[in-house]
Amino acid sequence: MKKILLLGYMASGKSTIAQLLSKASGIPYKDLDEIIEEKAQKSISKIFEEDGEIKFRKMEHEALKAVLSDEQELILALGGGTPCYAGNHEFLKNDDVVSVYLKAGIPVLVNRLRKDDKPRPLFDKQPEEEQEEFVAKHLFDRSYFYYQAKHVVSTDGKSAEDVVNEIMSLF
Ligand code: S3P
Repeated sequence: MKKILLLGYMASGKSTIAQLLSKASGIPYKDLDEIIEEKAQKSISKIFEEDGEIKFRKMEHEALKAVLSDEQELILALGGGTPCYAGNHEFLKNDDVVSVYLKAGIPVLVNRLRKDDKPRPLFDKQPEEEQEEFVAKHLFDRSYFYYQAKHVVSTDGKSAEDVVNEIMSLF
């Protein structure tokens, strides 16, 4: 059974597209952050605050492995850092995986991150005047891992519907 993995930087639209793609395809979807929160019985912010990022990355790795070992067909929205730690990028190449990097430009990402309600410990601690520089560097460092995906879909200037249709044509 296939797993469709959506990856990309924070606020690249992974969760939104996962939901729309699920509606359009009839394949159920899950969000890896929500799976981690459910298992830990606390929010991602609390995990970062109380346990630290390294513990979070270990939990993220375990959660991903568990989801991928399940037989169920699924659309999974990864966290922005998921492919970049603990060798997780190797899973993007699995035979039964359709991995899609949702690529968005820095101005779009910064703009969405500033408006978005979802707490993001790594972005939220940046002073406003350094946010753009932070995202630019962070995205640059992470791009190597994002490009391990089997498919790259550029999202800037496209409607969510267009992005969903593009992804549907990949599987
Ligand atoms: C993170 C992204 C977040 C969440 C955590 C760490 C990251 O998910 O997993 O705050 O390292 O980029 P989103 O990409 O859904 O914001």
